[in-house]
Order: sequence, then C-alpha cells, then structure tokens
Amino acid sequence: MYKYLINGQKELKGEVLISGSKNAALPLLAASLLTSGKTMLRNVPELKDIKTMLEVLKFLGVKYLFEKNNLELDTTKLTTHKAPYDLVKTMRASIYVLGPLLARLGKAMVSLPGGCAIGPRPVNLHIDAMEKLGATIKIEDGFIHATTKGLKGTEITFPKISVGATANILMGAVLAKGTTVIKNAALEPEVEELINFLIKMGARIEGKNTDTLTIQGIQKLKPVQYTVIPDRIESGTYLMAGVISESPITIKNMNVDHIRSLIRILEEIGVQLEVSNNSVKIKKISNLKGVYLKTLPYPGFPTDLHPLLTPLLTKIKGISVINETIFENRFAYIPELIRMGAEIEIDDHMVIIKGGSRLNGTKVMASDLRGGAALVLAGLIAKNETIVDRIYHIDRGYENMEDKLQKLGADIKRIKSDQ
Ligand code: EPZ
Repeated sequence: MYKYLINGQKELKGEVLISGSKNAALPLLAASLLTSGKTMLRNVPELKDIKTMLEVLKFLGVKYLFEKNNLELDTTKLTTHKAPYDLVKTMRASIYVLGPLLARLGKAMVSLPGGCAIGPRPVNLHIDAMEKLGATIKIEDGFIHATTKGLKGTEITFPKISVGATANILMGAVLAKGTTVIKNAALEPEVEELINFLIKMGARIEGKNTDTLTIQGIQKLKPVQYTVIPDRIESGTYLMAGVISESPITIKNMNVDHIRSLIRILEEIGVQLEVSNNSVKIKKISNLKGVYLKTLPYPGFPTDLHPLLTPLLTKIKGISVINETIFENRFAYIPELIRMGAEIEIDDHMVIIKGGSRLNGTKVMASDLRGGAALVLAGLIAKNETIVDRIYHIDRGYENMEDKLQKLGADIKRIKSDQ
C-alpha cells in the first residue's frame, strides 16, 4: 500500500493536461461486448478501475491489448456469461456488463455489487428496467441471474435519474426487438458519450441530450474505433488545485462545457477565469466569498466535485453550505479535514463550513476516490507535512496524479505505507 507525502503551501505554475474520462470509458468497454470483432478505444486512462473492468471482460473471454492509452478489445468469442464476485465487489461499474451480456448471449450472471463508502448504492433501477425490457431476473446467493428469450422494446420511466441504469438499459435496448423509450434518462456527458459510441456502432438512438431517449432495436452492431472524452471530474480537480493554492495554472485538453456548473460557482465565489473551449486559465483570486450549493444530476453541480470544493471553502471567511442530494454518505473525508483544522458540521445531508481556517498538515486517510483527492487538495495548502494514507482509492480514478502535481510544482511524493 502507498501513501502521499505532501509539503504544502507551494505556488503552482504551468499547465496540466487532462486524461480520458474514467466514467465515460467504463461503459464503452462494456458496450464492446455488444458486437463481435475488434473495438479500438483511444485516450483510455490507465487507472485501477479501467484495469478492473478489463479483468471482468477477460474473464468473460475478451482478449485485449492496452498500451499508451490505446485499447484494443477483441470480443469475437465470449466464453462465459458470469461476472464473478471477486471482481465485481471491487468496482460497482462491473454491473455495466448486465445489459450487453443479456443482449448478446440472452443470459447474464453478475454478482450484486453491494454498498460502498459513499452510501448503499442499490441497483434496483437497473433490475426493474431490465425486467421491463424482457429479462427474467432472480437474485440468489448474492448474484443477479438474468435470462431472456429475446429483449423486447418497451417504455421505461425511471423514478429517479441514474447514470448507470440509463447506460445499462441503453446497451440492452440497442439490440432489442422493436422500440424502447427511456424517460427521465440521465443527461450526464458520459451517457451522451455512450450514445455517440453506440450510434457509431450502428445503433439507432434519438433524443440525445434530452431526458427522453428513443431506441429502435437492430439485429447487429459493428466494432468501431473511438476516442474517449476528457475527464470532467479530473479537470475540476486540477482547477480546484490551482484555485486553492492561488496559482495561475492552465487546465488544458478538457471540455469546458462539461464543467460549466463548477465554473459558475467559482465565478460566484470571486475567482476570475479565462475560459476557452478546451482550456481554463486561473486569472485572479481575491476577496472570495462563501456559497450555498446543491449537488444535482447534470447539468447541475456534480456530486463527484462536492468533496473537491470543500477544502477551498474552509479558507474563505463566512459560512458556506453544500447540500449533497445524490449520495447519502459522501462525508467520510470531513472528519479528516476537521483533524487538519477545518470547522465543518454535517447536518443530515448538508455540509456546513465555517470558513477562515488555516489547515495544518497531519496524517489523514482516504476512504473513497473523490474524498481522497480532496485530502490531497487540503495538503497542498496546509502548513507543514500532510500524509494521505490509503491512496489506492485515488489510484482508482486519477491517472498519474502525483506526476501531474509535481510538474505543476507541488511537493508531493508517493511512498510505501510502512515507510
Ligand atoms: C455514476 O455512478 C458514477 N460512476 C459516479 O462516479 C457518480 O458519482 C454518479 O454516477 C452520479 O453522477 C460511474 O460512472 C462509474 P447513479 P452510478 O446510478 O451510475 C441511486 C466517481 O467518483 N440509485 O447515477 O452508480 C443512487 O444510490 C463515482 O467517479 C438507486 O437508487 O450513480 C444515487 O443516489 C462515484 N438505484 C442516485 O440513484 C439504482 O439502481 C444516482 O446514482 C441506481 C442508482
């Protein structure tokens, strides 16, 4: 196991290049199962969650080559329809193979993913919608056993917006017989990306960027070459690294449209930014003031950026409030920030930050991906040394985080946990 050792209060300089999106790439990897042959994906980030999904695909019979962010997937022969517990338990996104396996093989056995550090995270929406699409589903011994004599188009209205369930049902519906209408679909850029990918494979989908998607099922899809979009949460993370350390850095190779809600909040706080299509430069940071914000489905403020905003709000005098409406337990990073000197209270799902604190370095522990990254941001401004332990959480979703921060001038090192 590794930890980060950070000596804070350094000014950052220069540019950082954003990697391909983890949450966009994961469903594309699963969607490659919908066809037989070689799919080529470019700009795939080399990080733990992608490797876990590749392990799941390998178990199913997929052969792959992954080099320098280029991934070739050969899905010609699938040897099983079972996604085992040992792999699924480490990553919830493994549930993405449910739709493609049902569509291609007519059966799927996927371990129930279980809860995780940010909340219980059920998969009922995936299961209910897949049943409507014509699957028979039994839950036994912790596994979802799904079979179908052929998926059939239907109308599905999600009672709640879900990125994962929208993606899973889309992947099932593209090869179903007839027309499927998905209402209250998620609008996240990662869903838009999956739609673009499926359309390139030959799927017939209408309604992109609206909450109603209409899919005309077809019999066969073809393998394609495709380039993954930049990671919007990673771009938000480095933007926050620049703002919190009051450094004039430029975030490049990003899609600015995908983080408009963060840009709006930063401007409201008082940060001046120079924004183009694919880069953001931090211009001026002065007289900052607190904010009230709510996490919401896209295009609202993303829950994944909530923990990354908090360290900045601890610096700004006055009260700030983040109302977390998506995940009920995304707060494990807060006691760690309090240990560093922050004044924060949690009231139900509200994070109330009494700003104006100066953070002091100490030993802290990451307990989930974005919460872990938030502790790194806190370490960048803390006095003295901060040690962030259990950074395997951060490795799940950030490609070369310490390299990127070192290039910007941060004093951050990865060391073995027993050192
Ligand atoms: C995706 O998770 C992302 N993961 C998450 O990113 C992200 O936080 C989340 O969307 C919200 O934007 C991937 O893309 C791999 P949801 P997902 O289904 O699809 C409830 C990160 O840090 N729900 O949109 O699992 C659920 O509990 C991660 O990169 C049900 O009740 O999220 C939540 O309250 C963490 N039943 C809400 O819906 C279900 O069957 C939205 O979850 C499914 C979801």
